[in-house]
Amino acid sequence: MRVLGIETSCDETGVAVYDSERGLLADALYSQVAMHAEYGGVIPELASRDHVRKTLPMIREVLAQAGVEHGDIDGIAYTAGPGLMGALLVGAALGRSLAMAWGVPAIGIHHMEGHLLAPMLEEDPPRFPFVALLVSGGHTQLVEVKGIGQYRLLGESLDDAAGEAFDKVAKMLGLDYPGGPRVAALAERGQAGRFVFPRPMTNRPGLDFSFSGLKTYVRNTLAEETEQVLARGEALDEQTRADIALAFEEAVVQTLLIKCRRALQQTGMQSLVIAGGVSANTRLRAALGEMATKQGARLYYAQLRFCTDNGAMIAFAGCQRLAAGQEDDLQIVTRPRWSLESLPPIDDTALRRES
Ligand code: KG4
Ligand code: ZN
Repeated sequence: MRVLGIETSCDETGVAVYDSERGLLADALYSQVAMHAEYGGVIPELASRDHVRKTLPMIREVLAQAGVEHGDIDGIAYTAGPGLMGALLVGAALGRSLAMAWGVPAIGIHHMEGHLLAPMLEEDPPRFPFVALLVSGGHTQLVEVKGIGQYRLLGESLDDAAGEAFDKVAKMLGLDYPGGPRVAALAERGQAGRFVFPRPMTNRPGLDFSFSGLKTYVRNTLAEETEQVLARGEALDEQTRADIALAFEEAVVQTLLIKCRRALQQTGMQSLVIAGGVSANTRLRAALGEMATKQGARLYYAQLRFCTDNGAMIAFAGCQRLAAGQEDDLQIVTRPRWSLESLPPIDDTALRRES
């Protein structure tokens, strides 16, 4: 089965073709980051309009790159939520309309399921069951995964998502949006141990997260440091900024690590999957890899370009569901909020027949 995937939930237009036998045939990504950069964050209306401009030409480009015609496509998958309503509607309306025109089934995919399954695009994919840590700009969740659509939420952030905390701290440090990679780059030059920030909610039982207090801690530290140097008529030096970036990154990484270890212990599972934009973080990958090994478990993640938003993960998730016989009717449904646990499981006997 060959599926066209379309991702337009936020500020990236992603399009891909996934083939259940041959794997990923082609993918393209267009980032709107430069357009939103001057506002310091994503402007929803601008995002929607840009998806309108980019999606159809990108579909043509990806089909050509894959060496297929639209008649070779057996189904279309589009992100139906969670995300920005207007942005989601662009991909959903286009995907649903093309499917109708081409006479193939279409399915709306949960964006976080796309992230969660993205490591399965790799050569050595994780096998069910596993614990998944989803860390993106909008979500921080620990999920017990027994199969596709068999998700149990173990814990989640009660306030800011990990990626959101990175983005807000980046702003405080005077770095551009999206802040995660920029904070990580600044932290590279930081000295460990000069600042130590709290690891929120790690002292009590449970698997929920909270990053809002940590963000405030960073703001206060920055204010204190700035005040001290201002008194001497100086500006905050680069080394102090880097040291603060490192202390923040380390606090996020250690907090995520403590909760992942606890989730592995509680579930008795031996595979940990990390997915979403923050799973691109080098320090997080290294720390979790080491922790997993010590626990007798293994860590899995996607290659860098499939950690952040992309069309390949939507094409892949769509292919699994369409191959199992699931599809949506002609109504275009998008959900700005959508629980992962409400997704239907797939009948994986159908999948086994496919492969
Ligand atoms: O999954 P994603 O592309 O979009 C959402 O679904 O939200 O995640 C984007 C988030 C942003 O907050 C960005 O700052 C963060 O992922 N991010 C990182 C890194 N790369 C992206 N955070 C920390 N370190 C990175 N290397
Ligand atoms: Zn995402």
